[in-house]
Amino acid sequence: LKHFLTIDGLKREMLTEILDTAESFTGVSERVVKKVPLLRGKTICNLFFENSTRTRTTFEVAAKRLSADVLNLNVSTSSTTKGETLLDTLRNLEAMHVDMFVIRHSDSGAAHFFATHAAPHISVINAGDGQHAHPTQAMLDMFTIRRHKGDFTGLRVAIVGDILHSRVARSQILALNTLGTSEVRVIAPRTLLPSDPRTMGVHVFHDLEEGIRDVDVVIMLRLQKERMTGALLPSEHEYFQLYGLTEKRLKAAKPDAIVMHPGPINRGVEMDSQVADGPRSVILQQVSFGIAVRMAVMSMTMGTLAQGAAGR
Ligand code: CP
Repeated sequence: LKHFLTIDGLKREMLTEILDTAESFTGVSERVVKKVPLLRGKTICNLFFENSTRTRTTFEVAAKRLSADVLNLNVSTSSTTKGETLLDTLRNLEAMHVDMFVIRHSDSGAAHFFATHAAPHISVINAGDGQHAHPTQAMLDMFTIRRHKGDFTGLRVAIVGDILHSRVARSQILALNTLGTSEVRVIAPRTLLPSDPRTMGVHVFHDLEEGIRDVDVVIMLRLQKERMTGALLPSEHEYFQLYGLTEKRLKAAKPDAIVMHPGPINRGVEMDSQVADGPRSVILQQVSFGIAVRMAVMSMTMGTLAQGAAGR
Protein backbone atom coordinates (compact mmCIF):
# COMPACT_ATOMS: atom_id res chain seq x y z
CA LEU A 1 0.00 0.00 0.00
CA LYS A 2 2.27 2.77 -1.31
CA HIS A 3 -0.41 5.46 -1.55
CA PHE A 4 -3.98 5.65 -0.22
CA LEU A 5 -6.02 7.44 -2.87
CA THR A 6 -9.30 5.54 -3.13
CA ILE A 7 -11.14 2.49 -1.78
CA ASP A 8 -11.84 1.44 -5.36
CA GLY A 9 -9.87 -1.70 -6.24
CA LEU A 10 -8.81 -2.52 -2.68
CA LYS A 11 -9.62 -6.04 -1.51
CA ARG A 12 -11.57 -6.95 1.59
CA GLU A 13 -8.38 -8.30 3.19
CA MET A 14 -6.67 -4.93 2.81
CA LEU A 15 -9.58 -3.02 4.33
CA THR A 16 -9.70 -5.51 7.19
CA GLU A 17 -5.94 -5.10 7.72
CA ILE A 18 -6.39 -1.32 8.00
CA LEU A 19 -9.18 -1.80 10.57
CA ASP A 20 -7.16 -4.37 12.53
CA THR A 21 -4.07 -2.13 12.50
CA ALA A 22 -6.16 0.80 13.73
CA GLU A 23 -7.52 -1.46 16.45
CA SER A 24 -3.96 -2.19 17.60
CA PHE A 25 -3.43 1.54 18.23
CA THR A 26 -6.56 1.96 20.36
CA GLY A 27 -7.67 1.03 23.82
CA VAL A 28 -11.07 -0.24 24.87
CA SER A 29 -12.60 3.26 24.61
CA GLU A 30 -12.34 5.52 21.58
CA ARG A 31 -9.33 7.25 23.15
CA VAL A 32 -6.09 6.43 21.39
CA VAL A 33 -3.70 5.23 24.04
CA LYS A 34 -0.51 4.52 22.20
CA LYS A 35 2.32 6.73 21.01
CA VAL A 36 4.67 4.70 18.85
CA PRO A 37 7.99 5.47 17.12
CA LEU A 38 6.95 4.06 13.72
CA LEU A 39 7.45 7.31 11.76
CA ARG A 40 10.29 8.81 13.80
CA GLY A 41 12.54 10.85 11.50
CA LYS A 42 9.84 11.15 8.82
CA THR A 43 8.26 14.43 7.72
CA ILE A 44 4.58 14.57 6.85
CA CYS A 45 3.13 17.56 5.02
CA ASN A 46 -0.57 18.42 5.37
CA LEU A 47 -1.59 20.23 2.22
CA PHE A 48 -5.22 21.33 2.43
CA PHE A 49 -6.53 23.40 -0.48
CA GLU A 50 -10.07 23.09 0.96
CA ASN A 51 -11.19 23.88 4.49
CA SER A 52 -11.19 21.18 7.13
CA THR A 53 -11.64 20.83 10.87
CA ARG A 54 -11.64 17.09 11.55
CA THR A 55 -9.51 15.60 8.80
CA ARG A 56 -6.55 17.97 8.96
CA THR A 57 -6.30 17.97 12.71
CA THR A 58 -6.74 14.21 13.17
CA PHE A 59 -4.05 13.64 10.54
CA GLU A 60 -1.80 15.94 12.55
CA VAL A 61 -2.57 14.20 15.85
CA ALA A 62 -2.10 10.80 14.18
CA ALA A 63 1.27 11.82 12.71
CA LYS A 64 2.44 13.04 16.11
CA ARG A 65 1.31 9.79 17.76
CA LEU A 66 3.50 8.04 15.18
CA SER A 67 6.40 10.33 16.23
CA ALA A 68 6.66 12.05 12.83
CA ASP A 69 7.46 15.70 12.20
CA VAL A 70 4.47 17.56 10.77
CA LEU A 71 4.38 20.46 8.33
CA ASN A 72 1.03 22.23 7.91
CA LEU A 73 1.13 24.39 4.80
CA ASN A 74 -1.37 27.23 5.12
CA VAL A 75 -2.52 27.28 1.52
CA SER A 76 -4.37 30.60 1.84
CA THR A 77 -1.10 32.36 2.75
CA SER A 78 1.15 30.24 0.53
CA SER A 79 2.61 31.13 -2.85
CA THR A 80 -0.13 29.17 -4.63
CA THR A 81 -2.09 32.46 -4.27
CA LYS A 82 0.64 34.11 -6.42
CA GLY A 83 0.08 31.61 -9.23
CA GLU A 84 2.51 28.83 -8.29
CA THR A 85 1.34 25.57 -9.86
CA LEU A 86 0.50 22.39 -7.97
CA LEU A 87 3.53 20.71 -9.53
CA ASP A 88 5.91 23.49 -8.49
CA THR A 89 4.43 23.42 -4.98
CA LEU A 90 5.09 19.67 -4.90
CA ARG A 91 8.69 20.04 -6.14
CA ASN A 92 9.49 22.72 -3.55
CA LEU A 93 8.06 20.73 -0.66
CA GLU A 94 9.94 17.65 -1.89
CA ALA A 95 13.11 19.74 -1.68
CA MET A 96 12.37 20.11 2.06
CA HIS A 97 12.63 16.30 2.38
CA VAL A 98 8.96 15.57 2.87
CA ASP A 99 8.24 11.82 3.08
CA MET A 100 4.44 11.93 2.85
CA PHE A 101 1.80 14.29 1.54
CA VAL A 102 -1.72 14.36 2.93
CA ILE A 103 -3.67 16.33 0.35
CA ARG A 104 -7.20 17.76 0.12
CA HIS A 105 -8.23 19.56 -3.04
CA SER A 106 -11.46 20.63 -4.74
CA ASP A 107 -10.40 18.91 -8.00
CA SER A 108 -11.21 15.22 -8.34
CA GLY A 109 -7.90 13.53 -9.16
CA ALA A 110 -5.60 16.01 -7.37
CA ALA A 111 -4.22 13.37 -4.98
CA HIS A 112 -3.70 11.04 -7.93
CA PHE A 113 -1.77 13.80 -9.70
CA PHE A 114 0.49 14.20 -6.67
CA ALA A 115 1.07 10.45 -6.43
CA THR A 116 1.96 10.27 -10.12
CA HIS A 117 4.47 13.11 -9.95
CA ALA A 118 5.97 12.69 -6.49
CA ALA A 119 9.43 11.20 -5.99
CA PRO A 120 9.36 7.39 -5.65
CA HIS A 121 10.03 7.33 -1.90
CA ILE A 122 7.04 9.61 -1.14
CA SER A 123 3.60 8.35 -0.08
CA VAL A 124 0.44 10.30 -0.84
CA ILE A 125 -2.81 10.08 1.12
CA ASN A 126 -6.03 11.46 -0.28
CA ALA A 127 -7.81 13.59 2.36
CA GLY A 128 -10.68 14.34 -0.04
CA ASP A 129 -10.60 15.24 -3.74
CA GLY A 130 -13.60 17.01 -5.27
CA GLN A 131 -16.61 14.71 -5.51
CA HIS A 132 -14.40 11.68 -6.06
CA ALA A 133 -13.14 10.08 -2.85
CA HIS A 134 -12.48 10.52 0.86
CA PRO A 135 -11.05 7.10 1.67
CA THR A 136 -9.78 7.68 5.22
CA GLN A 137 -13.21 9.05 6.19
CA ALA A 138 -14.80 5.87 4.84
CA MET A 139 -12.35 3.72 6.79
CA LEU A 140 -12.94 5.53 10.08
CA ASP A 141 -16.66 5.10 9.44
CA MET A 142 -16.12 1.36 8.86
CA PHE A 143 -14.09 1.21 12.07
CA THR A 144 -16.94 2.88 13.99
CA ILE A 145 -19.52 0.50 12.52
CA ARG A 146 -17.36 -2.55 13.29
CA ARG A 147 -16.83 -1.38 16.89
CA HIS A 148 -20.58 -1.10 17.43
CA LYS A 149 -21.96 -3.87 15.24
CA GLY A 150 -19.18 -6.42 14.79
CA ASP A 151 -19.28 -8.16 11.43
CA PHE A 152 -20.61 -6.37 8.33
CA THR A 153 -22.50 -9.39 7.03
CA GLY A 154 -26.09 -9.16 8.17
CA LEU A 155 -26.01 -5.37 8.45
CA ARG A 156 -28.37 -2.98 6.70
CA VAL A 157 -26.88 0.50 6.29
CA ALA A 158 -28.66 3.63 4.98
CA ILE A 159 -26.85 6.72 3.67
CA VAL A 160 -29.13 9.76 3.57
CA GLY A 161 -28.79 13.02 1.70
CA ASP A 162 -26.61 14.56 -0.97
CA ILE A 163 -25.18 11.41 -2.55
CA LEU A 164 -24.52 13.16 -5.87
CA HIS A 165 -21.86 15.55 -4.61
CA SER A 166 -20.52 13.44 -1.74
CA ARG A 167 -17.02 11.96 -1.97
CA VAL A 168 -17.70 10.49 1.47
CA ALA A 169 -20.75 8.55 0.23
CA ARG A 170 -18.85 7.19 -2.80
CA SER A 171 -16.03 5.91 -0.59
CA GLN A 172 -18.42 4.56 2.06
CA ILE A 173 -20.46 2.61 -0.50
CA LEU A 174 -17.30 1.02 -1.94
CA ALA A 175 -16.03 0.12 1.54
CA LEU A 176 -19.38 -1.23 2.80
CA ASN A 177 -19.82 -3.43 -0.28
CA THR A 178 -16.21 -4.65 -0.19
CA LEU A 179 -16.58 -5.59 3.48
CA GLY A 180 -19.69 -7.67 2.71
CA THR A 181 -22.51 -5.50 4.09
CA SER A 182 -25.84 -7.24 3.43
CA GLU A 183 -27.66 -4.19 2.15
CA VAL A 184 -26.51 -0.65 1.41
CA ARG A 185 -29.34 1.85 0.88
CA VAL A 186 -29.21 5.42 -0.33
CA ILE A 187 -32.06 7.80 0.49
CA ALA A 188 -32.27 11.09 -1.40
CA PRO A 189 -34.34 13.17 -3.76
CA ARG A 190 -33.71 12.35 -7.44
CA THR A 191 -31.87 15.67 -7.88
CA LEU A 192 -29.23 14.63 -5.31
CA LEU A 193 -28.52 11.20 -6.78
CA PRO A 194 -26.21 10.24 -9.66
CA SER A 195 -27.99 9.31 -12.92
CA ASP A 196 -27.92 5.56 -12.23
CA PRO A 197 -27.20 5.00 -8.52
CA ARG A 198 -27.94 1.26 -8.75
CA THR A 199 -24.63 0.77 -10.57
CA MET A 200 -22.99 1.74 -7.25
CA GLY A 201 -24.39 -1.42 -5.65
CA VAL A 202 -27.11 0.22 -3.57
CA HIS A 203 -30.88 0.09 -3.12
CA VAL A 204 -32.48 3.47 -3.79
CA PHE A 205 -35.21 5.11 -1.71
CA HIS A 206 -36.73 8.56 -2.00
CA ASP A 207 -38.77 8.43 1.23
CA LEU A 208 -36.77 8.76 4.46
CA GLU A 209 -38.97 6.70 6.77
CA GLU A 210 -39.32 3.92 4.23
CA GLY A 211 -35.58 3.94 3.61
CA ILE A 212 -34.45 3.75 7.22
CA ARG A 213 -36.97 1.06 8.19
CA ASP A 214 -35.15 -1.71 10.11
CA VAL A 215 -31.65 -0.45 9.33
CA ASP A 216 -28.74 -1.00 11.74
CA VAL A 217 -26.83 2.14 10.78
CA VAL A 218 -28.05 5.54 9.56
CA ILE A 219 -25.40 7.79 7.98
CA MET A 220 -26.50 11.37 7.41
CA LEU A 221 -24.76 13.64 4.89
CA ARG A 222 -24.45 17.40 4.61
CA LEU A 223 -25.84 19.25 1.58
CA GLN A 224 -22.62 20.02 -0.33
CA LYS A 225 -23.72 23.49 -1.32
CA GLU A 226 -20.25 24.50 -2.44
CA ARG A 227 -20.52 21.91 -5.24
CA MET A 228 -24.08 22.76 -6.33
CA THR A 229 -25.32 25.02 -9.06
CA GLY A 230 -28.38 27.20 -8.39
CA ALA A 231 -30.96 24.88 -9.94
CA LEU A 232 -30.01 22.03 -7.63
CA LEU A 233 -29.92 24.03 -4.43
CA PRO A 234 -32.89 22.92 -2.32
CA SER A 235 -34.52 25.14 0.28
CA GLU A 236 -33.09 24.12 3.67
CA HIS A 237 -36.54 24.27 5.26
CA GLU A 238 -38.12 22.02 2.63
CA TYR A 239 -35.15 19.67 2.76
CA PHE A 240 -35.51 19.26 6.53
CA GLN A 241 -39.25 18.62 6.18
CA LEU A 242 -38.56 15.71 3.83
CA TYR A 243 -35.11 14.40 4.73
CA GLY A 244 -34.20 15.83 8.13
CA LEU A 245 -33.61 13.10 10.73
CA THR A 246 -35.71 13.59 13.87
CA GLU A 247 -36.22 11.29 16.86
CA LYS A 248 -39.70 10.48 15.58
CA ARG A 249 -38.41 9.40 12.19
CA LEU A 250 -35.51 7.48 13.72
CA LYS A 251 -38.07 5.16 15.38
CA ALA A 252 -38.40 3.43 11.98
CA ALA A 253 -34.82 2.13 12.27
CA LYS A 254 -33.88 -0.81 14.51
CA PRO A 255 -34.04 0.06 18.24
CA ASP A 256 -30.25 -0.30 18.53
CA ALA A 257 -29.46 1.55 15.30
CA ILE A 258 -26.54 3.97 15.46
CA VAL A 259 -26.55 7.42 13.83
CA MET A 260 -23.44 8.68 12.06
CA HIS A 261 -22.38 11.85 10.25
CA PRO A 262 -18.93 12.65 8.81
CA GLY A 263 -19.29 16.30 9.84
CA PRO A 264 -19.61 19.19 9.61
CA ILE A 265 -23.27 18.97 10.67
CA ASN A 266 -25.81 21.56 9.62
CA ARG A 267 -28.21 21.31 12.55
CA GLY A 268 -31.82 21.73 11.55
CA VAL A 269 -31.02 20.95 7.91
CA GLU A 270 -30.02 17.28 7.67
CA MET A 271 -30.66 16.42 11.30
CA ASP A 272 -32.21 17.65 14.50
CA SER A 273 -29.95 18.49 17.46
CA GLN A 274 -31.84 15.96 19.61
CA VAL A 275 -30.60 13.22 17.28
CA ALA A 276 -27.12 14.65 16.74
CA ASP A 277 -26.53 14.84 20.50
CA GLY A 278 -28.76 11.89 21.41
CA PRO A 279 -27.96 8.43 22.79
CA ARG A 280 -27.76 6.77 19.38
CA SER A 281 -25.33 9.29 17.93
CA VAL A 282 -21.73 8.08 17.50
CA ILE A 283 -20.67 11.20 15.61
CA LEU A 284 -17.92 12.29 18.00
CA GLN A 285 -16.63 8.73 18.30
CA GLN A 286 -16.14 8.80 14.53
CA VAL A 287 -13.83 11.78 15.01
CA SER A 288 -11.85 10.06 17.76
CA PHE A 289 -11.52 6.81 15.81
CA GLY A 290 -10.19 8.87 12.90
CA ILE A 291 -6.89 9.22 14.75
CA ALA A 292 -6.22 5.48 14.98
CA VAL A 293 -7.43 4.82 11.45
CA ARG A 294 -5.19 7.55 10.04
CA MET A 295 -2.28 6.20 12.09
CA ALA A 296 -2.92 2.82 10.47
CA VAL A 297 -3.05 4.19 6.94
CA MET A 298 0.07 6.34 7.43
CA SER A 299 2.14 3.55 8.93
CA MET A 300 0.99 1.04 6.30
CA THR A 301 1.70 3.33 3.34
CA MET A 302 5.14 4.18 4.72
CA GLY A 303 5.80 0.46 5.10
CA THR A 304 6.98 1.03 8.63
CA LEU A 305 4.59 -1.22 10.48
CA ALA A 306 6.42 -4.47 9.71
CA GLN A 307 9.84 -2.84 10.19
CA GLY A 308 8.72 -1.25 13.46
CA ALA A 309 7.28 -4.48 14.75
CA ALA A 310 10.45 -6.34 13.78
CA GLY A 311 12.55 -3.73 15.56
CA ARG A 312 10.66 -3.91 18.85
N1 CP B 1 -15.48 14.79 7.57
C1 CP B 1 -14.63 15.76 7.15
O1 CP B 1 -13.95 15.60 6.13
O2 CP B 1 -14.61 16.88 7.94
P1 CP B 1 -13.66 18.13 7.70
O3 CP B 1 -14.11 18.77 6.40
O4 CP B 1 -13.84 19.02 8.88
O5 CP B 1 -12.26 17.63 7.56
